[in-house]
Amino acid sequence: MHSSSPRQTSPAATVTPSALGLIGNTPLLALDRIHPGPGRLLAKAEFMQPGGSVKDRAARAILLAAREDGRLAPGAPVVEMTSGNMGAGLAVACAALGHPLVVTMSSGNSPQRARMLEALGAEVVLVPQVDGAAGQVTGADVTAAAEAARRLAAERGGFYVDQFHAPEGVRAHAETTGPEIWAQAAGRVDAWLAAVGTGATFLGVAAALRAHNPRVICAAVEPEGCQPLAGLAVTNPRHLIQGTGYGSVPPHWSEGLMDLSLAVTDQEVEGWRRALATREGLHVGYSAAANVAAAAALLRSGRLPADATAVTVLCDTGLKY
Ligand SMILES: Cc1ncc(COP(=O)(O)O)c(C=O)c1O
Repeated sequence: MHSSSPRQTSPAATVTPSALGLIGNTPLLALDRIHPGPGRLLAKAEFMQPGGSVKDRAARAILLAAREDGRLAPGAPVVEMTSGNMGAGLAVACAALGHPLVVTMSSGNSPQRARMLEALGAEVVLVPQVDGAAGQVTGADVTAAAEAARRLAAERGGFYVDQFHAPEGVRAHAETTGPEIWAQAAGRVDAWLAAVGTGATFLGVAAALRAHNPRVICAAVEPEGCQPLAGLAVTNPRHLIQGTGYGSVPPHWSEGLMDLSLAVTDQEVEGWRRALATREGLHVGYSAAANVAAAAALLRSGRLPADATAVTVLCDTGLKY
């Protein structure tokens, strides 16, 4: 008798039909080196998706829904305002589905983002900043970029994605990210934390986890001085946490899903970002570091049981900052 052949011992034959199939099902990672306790800090490795961020999920969901109900015709252009990540997710989905993509972006976002989008075939239109600075994009900057996108969509007869108002973003996280976390953590989730851009990640996951356990503590992460979700006046709209903390409550916000808001400073974010890279081998972006900073602070605060599990999200790769 021959021992089992390589063919018999190789994994089951599976072919992923397109890059759309690389979106979702990210690992849930233990950050035991930078947070040895109390409790356990777990993070969803969203930077591993083909566009490099958590936004791939919303991008795929919005485009597939629009194609399904006829708002997006085959081959028609797609237009969106982005801080970079939604654009990358859309660029991946547009390439796989056969749509040209035009994105508007505040010039305050890092130039690496524009280069990545162009490499993925997108046309990038940079919009001058209103009151922000390089690397610090404010709500007014984002509004200006969104207005430019709306104008371009009308001019080109394109589908305007409008991520802040599209219901499919929240739904994508309620149907994929949340259930993945619950299953990967084997139902042991005491707290969920995330920084908020459109709010799709925070809200969708919070809703899914609460459906399993209404006692899961859900905490929004906000930049110090820019905490509208905490009900505070915005005293400093400039901060490092690109893609989040725009100084206003996003349209889909649901107050009932937030138990508390935790503030983080730029200095804390820088420190945790460095620690994630050098002690965990995870070179991630600023919102990921903000989430980890807030989760570690919550676990240390005494508000949770000593053996609690806090789950957050590593939103994007650090390679494009
Ligand atoms: C780096 C980064 N982190 C976090 C977020 C927030 O995600 P959401 O829009 O789901 O709130 C974004 C959104 O663009 C982002 O670019």
